[in-house]
Amino acid sequence: MKVAVVEGDGIGGEVIEQGIRILEHLTPEINLTHFDLGADRYLRDGTTLPDQILEKWRSDFDVIYLGALGDPRVPTNVHAKDILLGSRFKLDLYINLRPIRLLDPRRCPLKNKDCDDVNFVVFRENTEGLYTGIGGQFKRGTKDEVAIEQEMNTRKGVERIIRAAFEYADRHGHSKMCMADKSNAMRHGHDLWRRVYKIVADEYPNIESNHLYVDVLAMEMVRCPERFEVIVTNNLFGDIVTDLGAILQGGIGLASSGNINPNGVSLFEPVHGSAPDIAGKGIANPLAAILSVGMMYTHLGRPELEKQITAAVRACLLADQITPELGGKLTTKQVGDAVLARL
Ligand code: NAI
Ligand code: MG
Repeated sequence: MKVAVVEGDGIGGEVIEQGIRILEHLTPEINLTHFDLGADRYLRDGTTLPDQILEKWRSDFDVIYLGALGDPRVPTNVHAKDILLGSRFKLDLYINLRPIRLLDPRRCPLKNKDCDDVNFVVFRENTEGLYTGIGGQFKRGTKDEVAIEQEMNTRKGVERIIRAAFEYADRHGHSKMCMADKSNAMRHGHDLWRRVYKIVADEYPNIESNHLYVDVLAMEMVRCPERFEVIVTNNLFGDIVTDLGAILQGGIGLASSGNINPNGVSLFEPVHGSAPDIAGKGIANPLAAILSVGMMYTHLGRPELEKQITAAVRACLLADQITPELGGKLTTKQVGDAVLARL
């Protein structure tokens, strides 16, 4: 197992350090290589994400383990955009897999919901949609300014993410799929989503395929999260609804994710950002980063290790071995210690 590590900015390094302790404990044979990328590097020599590094990741590594990017010293966030979107686009990490799974019922902000009620996965399209940067500004800074952001949907891109979601559902014995779009208002791109969804769904007669407009999805995730097993949606909507999902799980500090190219190197990271407000204080919650290690193991063919990690994290949550944002008293490192002790 060859892992490229990018700690990144802010709390990125703090949480990744704990994830690495887990990796080294469970698989001492693991081969980790650190890459110095992030705001410090950018401010030092202007480097964001060089093509040579992308090439190295493609040819020499199984997975990338990333902390977070974003630093107040770089107000344009150009380095973060280059590194995050650059790796997603250039490594073709077209599946953004985001599990929404409640591990401790006391952490759910909804009334009377148990762990079984909040347990689904979101397949977010990760390489097109509204995030490609296609568009432009005209008469910038004047009262006549025009700003255009184009949403790009390709048949290939839409089909492969929908197919990936169905394949996952089929493999994991799920019986329900839900696709969310806004085809009532966005009549071109999202009509493509509707048509392709129907074509792929017909190939999976054992999976009940539903459709919701994304605004209704947001409502239903709060009203009745138990109705969902697998959700597939586009880049922007997936970004938004998974933050909603993160809070259903107990908070952004518990949300893990994978950016997956089934035919190449993939990247695993906590969903949260670099949290400049708490960076350097040693109190960031490392559990999202640790659960991302679990996802990485499953991706590498070791699902039994993800089960162990999830069980250890659940036990820590139930024992209130948690960081301050969840109401606990432990530091980042102490939570790492607690997970390791349980492993
Ligand atoms: P954020 O996720 O960094 O923080 C949002 C809130 O959640 C803050 O109050 C923060 O303290 C808290 N929080 C986040 N992770 C936490 C953790 N592990 N433990 C305890 N509390 C935690 O999002 P925000 O503030 O919008 O963005 C900060 C920077 O991060 C920006 O530069 C943004 O662009 C970047 N960002 C990077 C992402 C990535 O690297 N994948 C994702 C989201 C934001
Ligand atoms: Mg987000």
